[in-house]
Amino acid sequence: MQAIQADVQVNFHYDVHFTTHLFDPENPLLSDVTTARAERLPARILFVVEEEVERLLDVRAAILAYCAKHSDTLTLVCPPLLLPGGEQVKNDPKHVVAVQEAVNETGLDRHSYLAVVGGGALLDTVGFAAATAHRGIRLLRIPTTTLGQNDSGVGVKNAINFFGKKNWVGTFAPAWAVINDFHFLTTQPDRVWREGIAEAVKVALIKDGDFFDFLEDQTDALAAREMAPMQELVYRCAALHVQHICTGGDAFEMGSSRPLDFGHWSAHKLEQITNYRLHHGEAVAIGLALDVTYSHLKGWLTENDCRRVLRVLSGLGFALHAPEMRGTDELFHGLREFREHLGGELTIQMLESLGVGFNVHEVDESLMAEAILLLERESRRFDGIGQPSPEDSRLELAAR
Ligand SMILES: NC(=O)c1ccc[n+]([C@@H]2O[C@H](COP(=O)([O-])OP(=O)(O)OC[C@H]3O[C@@H](n4cnc5c(N)ncnc54)[C@H](O)[C@@H]3O)[C@@H](O)[C@H]2O)c1
Ligand SMILES: [Zn+2]
Repeated sequence: MQAIQADVQVNFHYDVHFTTHLFDPENPLLSDVTTARAERLPARILFVVEEEVERLLDVRAAILAYCAKHSDTLTLVCPPLLLPGGEQVKNDPKHVVAVQEAVNETGLDRHSYLAVVGGGALLDTVGFAAATAHRGIRLLRIPTTTLGQNDSGVGVKNAINFFGKKNWVGTFAPAWAVINDFHFLTTQPDRVWREGIAEAVKVALIKDGDFFDFLEDQTDALAAREMAPMQELVYRCAALHVQHICTGGDAFEMGSSRPLDFGHWSAHKLEQITNYRLHHGEAVAIGLALDVTYSHLKGWLTENDCRRVLRVLSGLGFALHAPEMRGTDELFHGLREFREHLGGELTIQMLESLGVGFNVHEVDESLMAEAILLLERESRRFDGIGQPSPEDSRLELAAR
């Protein structure tokens, strides 16, 4: 008998919206988003809010007032649930179960909405609960961090940590819609504000030279937490991510090429070998510095372009090196793990120019070790922790 061929195609559509003060009763966006494709009104909705965001911004009361004003389109099925944020929420599956219990008890179905207000970690946790409850209910992502708004929240994945391993259990499940409210960004601690910027530098470097020019031009303003350039950064970065997902040909990451993981082979390992002293975005900044320096040493990227990237990263307040990188063996183990993770051939991005990445399948470890040494020397030339020297001429790399 011949094999029966099954070719299943599923089309997903989600919009990424931008606003400020989403829960201001005068702001129609949330009501519009939930009614635009609704089969029945009012739409039933359950909110999960991150505790820290609630503490800083009193979101629950605002949600209650909003839904009261928009009762013709929205029915709040119960008071918003509060959950912790940060990585801890991904470490205990009881939080996923708590969300699923609420979905069950309130009788949410696949035409109802589960809305999550929080950082990337809570988005991942609630996203996983939403994707698995009834095999998938509608998820509204309302990210509250830079990284959530410009990167993780606009993507199609979710996961929690399991068996002590990061993101071990999760699904590919596009949201129903993403709503980025810029006001949330204002209360982030500096480190969290900055971390998402590292991902913007990353995507600019591999995909969009003009965006890198913008980030370079706005480095000081971004470091000083000015909102106008931050809004543009979030918008452009989110657009590049969405474009990659929609047109990159591998939305559910079945192949072994993952361009958006530029700089991440070392970043993942750095988080681990620094015992998570380095946050993800901080490790990514070092990972970018490293692969950019390597790209220069390989002769692909000009020295001037390499220096520009290091200057931007330092100017944003990132360290370019961590003392734990000294014994390179452990770091290089990250390359092997990365290959295993992708299953098969090592495929990582390097740069041929600012805005143009390309795949390589092998790494010259002695040259990479030289890049690490260069960055160590380089970072000693900055004053204080991550504070750039005002004199570019002090960048030692220039002397090579
Ligand atoms: N699903 C994906 O495609 C994807 C992609 C990248 C990263 N991620 C995941 O995202 C997570 C990181 O997300 P993140 O960078 O948003 O960090 P996070 O969610 O861990 O939040 C960082 C800190 O900021 C706090 N916080 C959140 N919003 C705040 C606000 N508005 N004001 C003040 N404090 C606030 C949180 O309580 C937490 O302490 C990781 O778990 C990572 O694995 C997922
Ligand atoms: Zn990342």
